Amino acid sequence: MDIIRIERPTSPLRGQVHAPADKSITHRALLFGALNRRATHILNPSVSADCLATANLLQTLGYRLVASQNQVTLFPPEAPLSRNSEPLWIDCHNSGTTARMSMGLLAATAGTFQLTGDDSLRKRPMERAAAPLRLLGASVEVANGTMPITIHGKEGLAGYQGDPIPVASAQVWTALALAGLRSRDGVILRQTTPMRDHSARMMEHLGMPLSTANSLSTIHPARLDAEVVISIPGDLSGAAFLVAGAVLVPGSHLVITDVGLNPTRIAFLQALRGMGAQVQWEVEREINNEPRGCITAEYSPDLRGIELDPANRKTQPAPSVAQMMDELPLLALVAARAEGSTVIRGAGELRVKESDRIRQTAAVLRALGGEVKELEDGFSITGVQELHGDCRIDHAGDHRICMMAAIAGLVTKQPVEIPNPSVAEVSFPKFWKALLGGRDQKRAEGGGIALVKG
Ligand code: S3P
Repeated sequence: MDIIRIERPTSPLRGQVHAPADKSITHRALLFGALNRRATHILNPSVSADCLATANLLQTLGYRLVASQNQVTLFPPEAPLSRNSEPLWIDCHNSGTTARMSMGLLAATAGTFQLTGDDSLRKRPMERAAAPLRLLGASVEVANGTMPITIHGKEGLAGYQGDPIPVASAQVWTALALAGLRSRDGVILRQTTPMRDHSARMMEHLGMPLSTANSLSTIHPARLDAEVVISIPGDLSGAAFLVAGAVLVPGSHLVITDVGLNPTRIAFLQALRGMGAQVQWEVEREINNEPRGCITAEYSPDLRGIELDPANRKTQPAPSVAQMMDELPLLALVAARAEGSTVIRGAGELRVKESDRIRQTAAVLRALGGEVKELEDGFSITGVQELHGDCRIDHAGDHRICMMAAIAGLVTKQPVEIPNPSVAEVSFPKFWKALLGGRDQKRAEGGGIALVKG
């Protein structure tokens, strides 16, 4: 097994870098593109392992994907799936987004489908997408709430015209939107927590009928019949690792260009700023309804703790914990180096991510020398002057914990070893290169990051 050893760099992270392409938006471009009778051109798609799982799923259904330089074109199947064919097995690998969102597409596609995934994904909750899909008349069987999932898909789903369906996840919202677009009657959804709104923005860009008022969205049946282009910005959740590195490593000054700055994704940046970090962002343009621009992050010696508790009215308005769920392990790392205490609550969802991210984040930060207590729905962290490091990390195969530990290794006194570093490719294909690329040439050649065992 490969192990990467990270040592504290003697030079800062400086310069201009790109973030990887946005994973969430690429999944959506593929899945909404799957409703198109013509070609869908996706510019700058994410080639993360998660997005490749969605691309493979579509290929299994008979879609054709043609990749050329930094672009992929999706063509619809030439013939419908044969109704008498055996169930199609689809491996979603590590990708919860592939599994949950595709359930909506598959429920409305004639055929029988069985979805499975890797050890981590097979433990994750799937009933949250299956139950509301059944309200639309879909046949979705979920064994004990988890995979394998069996879908007896049919064209002409009824849709749902009762009370708005309450939805607390962007993935589930998207699954219902995909099924609703292919249904007879459409669907009305009520968003119960603030969440990323890429699907609604993409539907508007593609001309798919959607009316939204407050947290209610009415989705009317529609198919797309036009050649379309969808351009993918940089991924803020990927950029977040570079931002945290720049904030923590003395002397750093990084500019991350062409990143998605959708207002439902910037809560992590807002929280960092609330902790005294020198982080700026600026929207430069909007492409396909998605704002994008640059983030500037600088070494920030005066970090202080923060309280993020959605239930505590005294701390309102505060950046939304729900809207920075994926960045919370990283925020916990920054808090471990900040002055004073940090409390993060309302993050129970972290327990059912690729790993139990509350347990895993706390365990990693404690192994590094941090003072971190697990709460049922978050963390309580007391900042320390220095993290000692000198340990091998157990990231439980979770890409975000692996990358958080790598960023920690840039500031620990002693080196940090990261086994199985390729898990970073689940969301950030060139993570290790980006970490080196953010330094000056001497440092990049001289080490700081080294593969110690092959
Ligand atoms: C995602 C939504 C979030 C997020 C996940 C990606 C998406 O999950 O944590 O990594 O692309 O819609 P939930 O929908 O479960 O909140």
